[in-house]
Amino acid sequence: MKILGIETSCDETGAAIIEANSPVSIILKSNTLASSLSLHAKTGGVIPEIAARQQLHYMIPVLDETLKKAGYSAFDIDAIAVTYGPGLIGSLLVGVETAKTLAYIYNKPLIPVNHLLGHIYANWIGQEKEIRLPAIGLIVSGGHTDILLLKSHTDILLIGGTRDDAAGEAFDKIGRLLGMPYPAGPHIEAAAKKGNPKKILFPKPMIHSNTFEFSFSGLKTAVLREIKKYPTLTEETINDISTSVQQSIIDVLVAKTIQAVKAYNVSTILMGGGVSANTLLGESLRRSLKTYDENISLYIPKKQFCTDNASMIAAAAFFQNKPVDLNNVSANPELYF
Ligand code: KG4
Ligand code: ZN
Repeated sequence: MKILGIETSCDETGAAIIEANSPVSIILKSNTLASSLSLHAKTGGVIPEIAARQQLHYMIPVLDETLKKAGYSAFDIDAIAVTYGPGLIGSLLVGVETAKTLAYIYNKPLIPVNHLLGHIYANWIGQEKEIRLPAIGLIVSGGHTDILLLKSHTDILLIGGTRDDAAGEAFDKIGRLLGMPYPAGPHIEAAAKKGNPKKILFPKPMIHSNTFEFSFSGLKTAVLREIKKYPTLTEETINDISTSVQQSIIDVLVAKTIQAVKAYNVSTILMGGGVSANTLLGESLRRSLKTYDENISLYIPKKQFCTDNASMIAAAAFFQNKPVDLNNVSANPELYF
């Protein structure tokens, strides 16, 4: 089954084609990504109107290139998958209306996909090992920090999330305070490698609470308070702050994920979203799991599939495989679980 995926929830215009025959045979045929990121780097966050206009600009060329690279015409595709939320309304509209138009013209089934689930399904791309459910899903992106219980591909429960800022948002806002460009996650990760982890200690919000909830906005305030102690921010201080703040975020994410694994007695963890590209996060979770139970399988998408892309949307559609009447598909910026 050849699925064309379209992803336009934020500042990335993505299209991808997968050939999926079974859960252990999801082969990526082509994957194209255009981004308006450079236009937002200076402002410290995405400007919705600019992102939407760039989506319009890139959508057709990205689709053309994706089909060309795979060596297919639109007639060869068996189904079209599209992100219908959550995200920025203007950006989402471009992808959804394009997908509906293509589905109508070429008479193909249309499968709307929740972007957040897409992040989890990035783990199936090129995966040769059978991923067993039930699983705990940890979505750590710029807009979300959620813990899911995936009982099956169609029975998915939200068991916890953030009360305020998402993990990626915390990285981005703290990075901005440190003078880093958007998105700051990779810059904090790089600076953290050179910092002294013992110099500054930040709180680890809600680490001991018995819920699966997170709260990262206080960290930003703690960093701001720390910064005010110094007349100027030297590179050394930026590195030390980066190390400690990254450690706090990672410790909370690891603790809550293991707490969820214990509570629901699962042996699979599926991570996804931009922050799962953070190497130390993956290493720390793997290390902690080893001391808890050696038999738990942790899946983290390949780096290029952690951040937004369309292959994960096509992969999710293979498992959801629920085509919807074109008239009933519309962009939903507030979509959740
Ligand atoms: O999943 P994603 O591409 O977009 C959303 O759906 O939000 O995630 C983007 C987020 C940004 O906040 C970015 O700073 C963060 O992922 N991120 C990272 C790393 N790479 C990206 N955070 C920490 N460490 C990284 N290496
Ligand atoms: Zn995302």
